[in-house]
Amino acid sequence: MRTLDIIHKKKNGGELSAEEIKFIVDGFTKGEIPDYQMSAFAMAVCFVGMTETEVSCLTDAMMRSGDTLDLSAFGDRTVDKHSTGGVGDKTSLVVAPVAACLGGIVAKMSGRGLGHTGGTVDKLESIKGFDTTVSPERFTEQAEKVGVVIAGQSANLAPADKKLYALRDVTSTIDSIPLIASSIMSKKLAAGSHSIVLDVKVGSGAFMKDIESAEKLARTMVSIGNSCGRKTRALLTNMDVPLGHAVGNSLEVIEAAGVLKGEVKGDLYEICVALASNMVSMVNGTGIADAERDVRRVIDSGEAFEKMKEWVAAQGGDSRYLDDPSLFPKAKVAHEVVSPSDGYIAGMDTEKIGDSSSILGAGRLKAGDPIDYSAGIVIAAKTGERVSRGDVIATLFTSDAELAKRAEEVYLDALTFSDTEPAPEKLIYKVIQ
Ligand code: URA
Repeated sequence: MRTLDIIHKKKNGGELSAEEIKFIVDGFTKGEIPDYQMSAFAMAVCFVGMTETEVSCLTDAMMRSGDTLDLSAFGDRTVDKHSTGGVGDKTSLVVAPVAACLGGIVAKMSGRGLGHTGGTVDKLESIKGFDTTVSPERFTEQAEKVGVVIAGQSANLAPADKKLYALRDVTSTIDSIPLIASSIMSKKLAAGSHSIVLDVKVGSGAFMKDIESAEKLARTMVSIGNSCGRKTRALLTNMDVPLGHAVGNSLEVIEAAGVLKGEVKGDLYEICVALASNMVSMVNGTGIADAERDVRRVIDSGEAFEKMKEWVAAQGGDSRYLDDPSLFPKAKVAHEVVSPSDGYIAGMDTEKIGDSSSILGAGRLKAGDPIDYSAGIVIAAKTGERVSRGDVIATLFTSDAELAKRAEEVYLDALTFSDTEPAPEKLIYKVIQ
């Protein structure tokens, strides 16, 4: 078999066999296929696409390129949730304890990643003492005892994807549905959970800017998961507006705890209920209405908040931080952004709001960059709200007044104002299973 022939076949619209796909993935992972040939292959996939069978084979080859977690001891109780990424997305912190209260086991390894804020493990590490380095023995023990464990990624999960993603990032080959779907699903399948709920974000702050492409991505991922024997569902959810009101690591932990304390309602609460209901209905085999009633009950009763504290304490975190958010270290600078005009906020370019959060120090631009846990944004007014000139519409938290000024410019540039009230936006567009 020759790499050149495989690239040529794909470029000309041919369907690759499982052997050809395995050859190219294995060869690239071992360093036998050079970057320039793999880039040409990725570009051919971007232009020509892949059949459903090819995408499944690509996912399978990448999943098998490294370790796979064996969670089979927990039967079909394990459930994972994955978001394609958005601004203010802290839903994992909420849905994991909710699912654990209702029979699920959420045992996740999570990467740190790059972005507008840190990843889930960074957010958790903003809680004093929280330890994301968990030995395999403790991982299993805590999953059984508490029902939730979220650890930093120690196992070598899907290294082929890691290497290919880095190449795609610098060759303009990220935006291909077969490549995105196989990338995400190879990691999810390697992570071992029996059920998987995918939160596919759509809008200005998401990878997928329109519903059609988000739906195509979601259908591809659901089909891969189901064909590999994992129960898989996807929700298409709105990312034209940041989720909730907090963007930033400790700020998001505080808001997530607020949902479980019954203090935070609105879009964040509703999306968490929808995601958790799907997780619970998959684990227990119940209908979505029954699952949703149970989810609302364990939130209202405070049971899920107690579970969150039990989980944080099990990983060495000081759970008093969740009861009393004033314990979190405060940012040196709190800069208020005021509305430049009267009217309705008609739109928020959510990606720009994420950029503003990065400028404040809440995220990383490259792997290994430090994160300021206390940095970020608390949004006071979102799309659809009426404001008057001079009203505080957001507070920016950072360590340096200069950063706050730069972030303010970007924040204001993200907003559009109108004299007329915009039509309310849908929160959940579709559920695909
Ligand atoms: N997230 C991933 O993990 N992979 C992609 O290709 C895109 C988003």
